[in-house]
Amino acid sequence: MARLRIAILISGRGSNMASLLAACRDGRVAADPVLVLSNRADAAGLAIAEGAGVATRLLSHRGFAERAAFDAALDAALKEAGAELVCLAGFMRLLTRGFVEAWRNRMINIHPSLLPAFPGLDTHRRALAAGVRFAGCTVHYVRFETDTGPIVAQAAVPVLAGDDETSLAGRVLEAEHRLYPLAIGLIAAGKVRIEGERAVVEAEDPPPASLLNPIGMAGPDR
Ligand code: GRF
Repeated sequence: MARLRIAILISGRGSNMASLLAACRDGRVAADPVLVLSNRADAAGLAIAEGAGVATRLLSHRGFAERAAFDAALDAALKEAGAELVCLAGFMRLLTRGFVEAWRNRMINIHPSLLPAFPGLDTHRRALAAGVRFAGCTVHYVRFETDTGPIVAQAAVPVLAGDDETSLAGRVLEAEHRLYPLAIGLIAAGKVRIEGERAVVEAEDPPPASLLNPIGMAGPDR
């Protein structure tokens, strides 16, 4: 099977992007990163991608008066790179309906909560305020409404007594770094199909598209 050509969109730190590049490089994921694109010049992730020898591009939203014009340029850059799957990884831009529809079922996102709980920003603060016992992260296909769309994979992370936003965010981020490669690996292997508005992962035992991270353990792959 041909390797999936993925583009990764970032706006900042790029730690999820780095975990994807590593997973592609060491063979855990049968995909080739063909482009890392940032809408911000100061995104630390750009230098990480360059260091990894991956094609990078800066497409600043500041040069565009309208969202649609920025999204058209983004679409052109993705097509030029031959991207087959777009992976949002901390890409802090709202996308137009037209762009989202054009990449329907070919664009995924990682969000630091167990969706549909806590879409949007400040997820960890809101999770702590709500007193949930499990936080986590979700990889999902992108639909127009923020942080919605068919769920490919989730990881649950227990909330510990004494957690604050920083400690919880750090533990969830570790789970993100395992979950995103896992989800893209499944997609690249052709094991994910969309039925209605649900993503169905080809049955395996144990279920491959979820991680439960018990207290004191990093996860099943360690
Ligand atoms: C991650 O928490 C991701 O879930 C969210 O934005 C953050 C990006 O972090 N969408 P990084 O740039 O991957 O380090």
